[in-house]
Amino acid sequence: MTILVTGGAGYIGSHLVRTLRSLERDVVVLDTLELGHEAALLGAELVVGDIRDRELVVELCRSRGITSVVHFAAYKNVGESMLEPAKYWRNNVAGTVELVEAMLAAGVRHLVFSSSCSVNGTPAVVPVDEDAPLSPESVYAETKAMVEKILRWYDVTRELRSVSLRYFNAAGASEDAVIGEDWSQSLNLIPLVMKATLGKRPPVQVFGDDYPTPDGTCIRDYIHVDDLADAHVRALDHLAEGGGTVSLNVGTGIGSSVLDVIRATERVSGRAVPYEVVGRRAGDPVSTYADPARIEAVLGWRATKGLDEIVASAWRWHSTHLDGYHS
Ligand SMILES: NC(=O)c1ccc[n+]([C@@H]2O[C@H](COP(=O)([O-])OP(=O)(O)OC[C@H]3O[C@@H](n4cnc5c(N)ncnc54)[C@H](O)[C@@H]3O)[C@@H](O)[C@H]2O)c1
Repeated sequence: MTILVTGGAGYIGSHLVRTLRSLERDVVVLDTLELGHEAALLGAELVVGDIRDRELVVELCRSRGITSVVHFAAYKNVGESMLEPAKYWRNNVAGTVELVEAMLAAGVRHLVFSSSCSVNGTPAVVPVDEDAPLSPESVYAETKAMVEKILRWYDVTRELRSVSLRYFNAAGASEDAVIGEDWSQSLNLIPLVMKATLGKRPPVQVFGDDYPTPDGTCIRDYIHVDDLADAHVRALDHLAEGGGTVSLNVGTGIGSSVLDVIRATERVSGRAVPYEVVGRRAGDPVSTYADPARIEAVLGWRATKGLDEIVASAWRWHSTHLDGYHS
């Protein structure tokens, strides 16, 4: 009954690994460590290797009695995906096919997949539900949409059952500030705001304050990384109980603007956040946030933490780990 977590040494994966171990579930992590950190595993078992190494994955699944896989391993830099698309097709799409083939060869038929709200592109309607059209606007987003479709065909043809979790904006850190996001890698808003507040980078650039939103800045749905981890545990249980293949949004259902994030950081840190308003950035959806009704119905999951708690946990982590895991 061991769970294989690919990409488990990364940001979200390491929070799930910690949650699973706290629930006394057996876990093995498979990670190249290209973008992850062994320190984030807090002693959990790590196999350094690639999801595309079929022999390794088959052997790992067989020797460790793997019953399900949570698949985080992927590249996630949207800008890079437009400059080096082959890197993304190979790792995110072909890599997933290799992983699934190895799983099936070893008789493993349950997979939880890290998808993204970016599969919907700029939504015509908010909140976004799972029936919104797939309309990716980057190579990265397309890799997630393609894998979701591939997994549906694996359900039909090979009885592989999977849950694709479409994360909105993963953010925050563990409450005790022991693990968190590697900000040297991250281009996400909250780490950028933390860096600017701590004087580690120039002022935050706010891309446009003339959008049709209450304060004129773009709106996103920030979801605490430990709430995300909990959604994965429930997805694993859903599959173990015979649940079917499904795609689910994982968000709070509440939209927060860029200025909301800046104000929350000022409240939590007691410091002024340096920022400057610049022009709109091409390709930024004005507003996107989840309709979380389906995940509540299917998994009984609901977010427990709001923006202030997310920002407070991020502040505790970043302000005590100015150099990430090298601090
Ligand atoms: N962070 C977000 O806001 C967000 C939002 C939506 C979806 N996602 C998805 O969630 C997953 C995890 O995201 P994260 O923020 O933790 O990213 P991350 O970069 O911190 O973690 C990814 C991990 O996968 C490993 N990895 C990459 N390719 C691999 C391979 N071929 N074999 C083995 N290991 C490999 C990396 O070394 C890294 O440790 C990704 O699939 C990402 O696309 C993230």
